[in-house]
Amino acid sequence: MIRTIAVLTSGGDAPGMNAAIRAVVRTALHKGLKVYGVHDGYLGLFKGQIEELKRGSVSEKLGQGGTYLGTARLEEFVDVEIQKVALRNLHIYGIDALVAIGGDGTYRGALALSKLGLPVITIPCTIDNDIGGTEFTIGFDTALNTIVEAADKLRDTSNSHRRCSLIEVMGRNCGDIAVWTSIACGAEVCITKETGFNLDEVLTNIREAAKHKRHAIIIVAENIVDIEELAQTITKKTPFEARATVLGHVQRGGKPTVRDRVLASEMGVKAVEALLAGDDQHCVASIGNKIVTIPLEEALASSDSADTLKKYELFKVLW
Ligand code: F6P
Repeated sequence: MIRTIAVLTSGGDAPGMNAAIRAVVRTALHKGLKVYGVHDGYLGLFKGQIEELKRGSVSEKLGQGGTYLGTARLEEFVDVEIQKVALRNLHIYGIDALVAIGGDGTYRGALALSKLGLPVITIPCTIDNDIGGTEFTIGFDTALNTIVEAADKLRDTSNSHRRCSLIEVMGRNCGDIAVWTSIACGAEVCITKETGFNLDEVLTNIREAAKHKRHAIIIVAENIVDIEELAQTITKKTPFEARATVLGHVQRGGKPTVRDRVLASEMGVKAVEALLAGDDQHCVASIGNKIVTIPLEEALASSDSADTLKKYELFKVLW
């Protein structure tokens, strides 16, 4: 029987993490559970940085960016001895189950703990939208809005100077951020791992744009191409002078959008309800506008690249 749970955030932070923590804490208290917060993700779990959370602990957190519990990336958590220390620390506090909020690394850590006997559930929270099995992750919508705001500003200056703006966005190995923002800001070219990079096609599109407008926007997902070099090639081979901007970690900050706050709240509630209903080794997912749970291993094994390519087809019709 689950009487006491813990919540942690792990991996890259994302707007809406605080809203998810708040929902987990408030739901747990509402159900009569005791709830603990773990600081700095699995690192804090290993070090025993655990504190009891009350209703007031999560007041004023709903709209804050980042994660007030802190987060970390701990590659060493694959080591079963480190996992056992983490488990012992949970037992010291009488914690029966864990809610882990984060991306695929967080999922793998939770799965490892569950294989050692701890009931776990995870909540998808990363700007990358790269978690299998869920259509949306918490933080994705806020990052998209941040990027589109930046792209709109770059368009103003690029239009004034008759330039092409290359914008590198995050996403690790997933092109969702690039494709969605390309649609939303009317980019001329979108380059992602799923869509591939073809220099001739890029130059053709930019030369075409130069025939009827004063600017062009290229959205490039990280880890595909050196955008400074690509900007120089565009300057040499098209009528546009080009400038490159790497948006970087600004994409991870800021107040969560309404959509992310609501998604985080729904998923936080679902996580606690599912744990109490016995959904161990599961993760929360948003599928067809419904919040459900699916097995963790299924989520880790599935890929959403077909959805990314479907959105890219839409982009190609519109550009
Ligand atoms: O997973 C989120 C993310 O922002 C990725 O898009 C990016 O590749 C990575 O984290 C950056 O990690 P770090 O903040 O550790 O440099």
